[in-house]
Amino acid sequence: MLRRMNQTIRMTTEPDFQAWMGATQARVEVALARFLPLPEIAPAKLHQAMRYAVLDGGKRVRPLLCFAAGALTGAPVERVERAACAVEMIHAYSLVHDDMPCMDDDTLRRGKPTVHVEFDEATALLVGDALQSLAFQLLAEPGLLGDPERQLRMLHALALASGSRGMAGGQAIDLAATGNTLSVPELEFMHIHKTGALIRAAVQLGTECGAPLPAEAHAGLDRYAKLIGLAFQVVDDVLDAEASTATLGKTAGKDQQQNKPTYVSALGIARARALAEEMRAEAHAALAGLGTQTKRLAELADFVVLRKF
Ligand code: IPE
Ligand code: IPE
Ligand code: MG
Ligand code: MG
Ligand code: MG
Repeated sequence: MLRRMNQTIRMTTEPDFQAWMGATQARVEVALARFLPLPEIAPAKLHQAMRYAVLDGGKRVRPLLCFAAGALTGAPVERVERAACAVEMIHAYSLVHDDMPCMDDDTLRRGKPTVHVEFDEATALLVGDALQSLAFQLLAEPGLLGDPERQLRMLHALALASGSRGMAGGQAIDLAATGNTLSVPELEFMHIHKTGALIRAAVQLGTECGAPLPAEAHAGLDRYAKLIGLAFQVVDDVLDAEASTATLGKTAGKDQQQNKPTYVSALGIARARALAEEMRAEAHAALAGLGTQTKRLAELADFVVLRKF
């Protein structure tokens, strides 16, 4: 009897956030490993480097957002998994290129040597190219949604978020701004492109995997996504200044060393943190009225702002 009761309790009690996050990260890891070409398939060096770049590391914030948004629309897990892996592959590619000598010139990422250090620069370039194509290949899977129009909307959203009007454009602004001072509105413009766009797309893609939402719900969710997307990069700027290399798994203090304009250089750590905190509160408010399935999205807003790495 007691055993039965315990089982019932386990089944009806939602796992706490840490447990949900761990289980979702593990699920994403398995899916990524399955979607990536096997390391022995030719060209083996490229495939090994792709797996090195994507597997075994990272917080998987964008996949977590896909899953949390998918829960809101009752999306089938296998579908969300594919969308989550597509977004993570674009993100991983952006990190590989971001670390190259022609960009931030970093040697450490996710606690390991960066791809161009472990392999070589040409391979790092190709890893980014190939991961980007694989991401779109995953989303273009025939019959993924049973609704070609919605599937095209997902492809469109990911393309927009990755390209010159999204992440790649934000990276271009970042490079052009290095060594200069930017105003807070200029910093915001840079951050919502280089980082916010892909985070927003993660929420959009997760949502599209399930039942259609009313327009007002879409607007609330999009506002949430934009707020945490910007907050994510503000906190990244703060952690670069505040945390250690060991905690971050990437070289700390790089922004100041490279003269990057950031929220910390513009506002100082305390005001940058306070701004992220405001965005966290606004993100919670944006979820109000979206029903009962927003718990994980709310917890992810907290994670994005309160994280230590
Ligand atoms: C780092 O992203 C680069 C930014 C866009 C700020 P993450 O902090 O999500 O990196 P991983 O995926 O956890 O390594
Ligand atoms: C990178 O921003 C944003 C990307 C699109 C990869 P950063 O250059 O601040 O990211 P980290 O600090 O190297 O992870
Ligand atoms: Mg950079
Ligand atoms: Mg960088
Ligand atoms: Mg940074």
